[in-house]
Amino acid sequence: MKKIKCNNFKNSKGYKVSKNFKNFKKDDLNAFFNSNELFIRKGKNIYTKNMFKSVKVYGERLFYFKGFEFREWNPYKSKLCASIVKSDFIDFDLLSNSNILYLGASCGTTVSHISDLNYKKIFSVEISYEMGIQLVGLSRTRKNIFPIIEDARNVLNIKKLIGSNRIGLVILDIPGKFQVDLINDIAIHILKKHTIIYFSIKLSSINSSKSLREILNIELVKLKEIFDIKNIISLEPFEKNHYMLILRKK
Ligand SMILES: C[S@@+](CC[C@H](N)C(=O)[O-])C[C@H]1O[C@@H](n2cnc3c(N)ncnc32)[C@H](O)[C@@H]1O
Repeated sequence: MKKIKCNNFKNSKGYKVSKNFKNFKKDDLNAFFNSNELFIRKGKNIYTKNMFKSVKVYGERLFYFKGFEFREWNPYKSKLCASIVKSDFIDFDLLSNSNILYLGASCGTTVSHISDLNYKKIFSVEISYEMGIQLVGLSRTRKNIFPIIEDARNVLNIKKLIGSNRIGLVILDIPGKFQVDLINDIAIHILKKHTIIYFSIKLSSINSSKSLREILNIELVKLKEIFDIKNIISLEPFEKNHYMLILRKK
């Protein structure tokens, strides 16, 4: 296991500890903790404090900072990470302090980093049994992951499984023509007013005959009936044809 020395992160001013995520500056050269001291960002690199020392989830690099172990979060493998790298719009306090509904959890790459950050529950929906087995394995040790092996389009089943837990944040990472219909259904049946959604939209899987800009505009019109559009983040160069839309239920 390769250790990266903390000294790599020192500059002439030493370490900067941020009390509040709002103090964050996009090109800050200092490493710093968020208010819960659960992640570090240095330039474009993001790391989450490892819930289980020395345990990797997907072969990510580990390194040590101020006596703690951190896992490198790879923006090429996680659209949520890519959107953090591209923008300072992702709210880490929301990731830490909300019950999260994550649609398209796969084997848990991104979910594992949210698990490092999260004090509540991550309801993680995945349709594939193959991926689901790994997700369930992850949930045996990471107790904040609640795997749901189900088609996300069965919204009423998912609602039943979530029970009385209030969802504060939805993350959707399922490509397909039905993406916008799905998030609308979720909003209508599960979400309370003002819930935030991080919606990773893959434009080329919606329509391949129009330009990306045209497809995006058409989908935004549909979304605006139910959501306020808070931000639109292109995920290039990490993911082609993808945007992260930050929505708030009206
Ligand atoms: C792009 S991958 C997600 C990667 C994952 N979000 C991450 O960052 O680690 C999309 C996942 O959605 C799952 N999926 C596709 N259709 C689905 C559906 N209808 N319901 C639930 N999951 C679905 C796929 O099996 C796949 O694992």
